[in-house]
Amino acid sequence: MAKLTVKDLDFKGKKVIMRVDFNVPLDKKTGEITDDTRIKEALPTIKYVLGKGASKLILMSHLGRPDGKVVEGLRMTPVAKKLSQLLGEGVEKLDDCVGEAVKDKIARSKDRVILLENLRFHAEEEAGDEKFAKELASLADVYVNDAFGTAHRSHASTTIIAKFLPSCLGFLMEKEVHYLSSALAPKKPYVVILGGAKVSDKIDVIESLMKHADKFLIGGAMAYTFLKAQGIDVGASRVETDKLDVAKKILDDAAKKKIKIILPVDHVTVDNIENPASKKITSGVTIAQGLFGVDVGPKTIELFKNELKGAKTVLWNGPLGIFEKDEYADGTKEIAIALSKLKNATVIVGGGDSASAAKKFKVADKLSHVSTGGGASLEFLEGKPLPGIAIIKDKK
Ligand code: 3PG
Repeated sequence: MAKLTVKDLDFKGKKVIMRVDFNVPLDKKTGEITDDTRIKEALPTIKYVLGKGASKLILMSHLGRPDGKVVEGLRMTPVAKKLSQLLGEGVEKLDDCVGEAVKDKIARSKDRVILLENLRFHAEEEAGDEKFAKELASLADVYVNDAFGTAHRSHASTTIIAKFLPSCLGFLMEKEVHYLSSALAPKKPYVVILGGAKVSDKIDVIESLMKHADKFLIGGAMAYTFLKAQGIDVGASRVETDKLDVAKKILDDAAKKKIKIILPVDHVTVDNIENPASKKITSGVTIAQGLFGVDVGPKTIELFKNELKGAKTVLWNGPLGIFEKDEYADGTKEIAIALSKLKNATVIVGGGDSASAAKKFKVADKLSHVSTGGGASLEFLEGKPLPGIAIIKDKK
């Protein structure tokens, strides 16, 4: 059943409090925002609510993990500055998010848009504290949740607050749910590309996607655990030895269900991760003793590209190598480019590192959807209800 959205509520003359996910990456030295995608993705809902005559729009978010205390480097100040630039109007950033001084400042502000201070400076936020949620709710007449990246958290501002105000979802939430749902009810053939460091992070998602996918292309360090589970030597590459049984079971289940699991057939290896000059390509699937796999090899890239041909739905979650280092980035880059060239296919990137890779290789705007959620998109794909969405009432 569809949930209430901003299209279903009246904002004229109302004070609106909106949860956004402005948990953006900051440069360690300068404190500058290094990727403003999450701010840009919130703009359609922000502009819509303002356009519908809200008297005040009070935005709130967390930034980082300050663990219930004030951390100077995690104030929302750079976010307010960036948002103001993108919106083309003033954004008043407050020094706290609850209390009489906050109410007073909102009432006196000349700006329509207010940004509260980092919610996680209060331990009550992550604890899902009802009193804290009520205090946030007392700032406004209506609540909008457009924070998909935090929808898997049952926190005061993402979930509990909806008990106290008329509530709905924003456009980013709608878009994320629309595309990620198509990964759970796909047009076939459906290819899932999985990568990243650990099998353990992806077990639930693999089990959930096995109900829908025709084939999995697996790269990244998790591929070494799958290869090792088949008795293949992977040298000194990262293997989760305590997950070999799980990997074996996934391979067996897939074979029974006639789902193809395609693993790398060659690798880029080094003698030390910090020594790209020692880079060598293996001739086959085994990796010699002492060498570390850091990327998929050229034969694997071609194999994966071929396996993508004709796909109608593709989900990509996790890089195929250590793409942050240019020397180990070819596999992730080539596959990202191949995805951007697929015709008549819905291509969904499940957030996190693969979203960063899609941006790095400049294909993000050529794909159907790049999720703004890391953990949230994984939990959605695992088929788990996200509390920030579940709490919102269904449309009548
Ligand atoms: C994210 O970046 O995945 C979200 O903002 C949630 O952050 P968290 O994992 O610290 O709750």
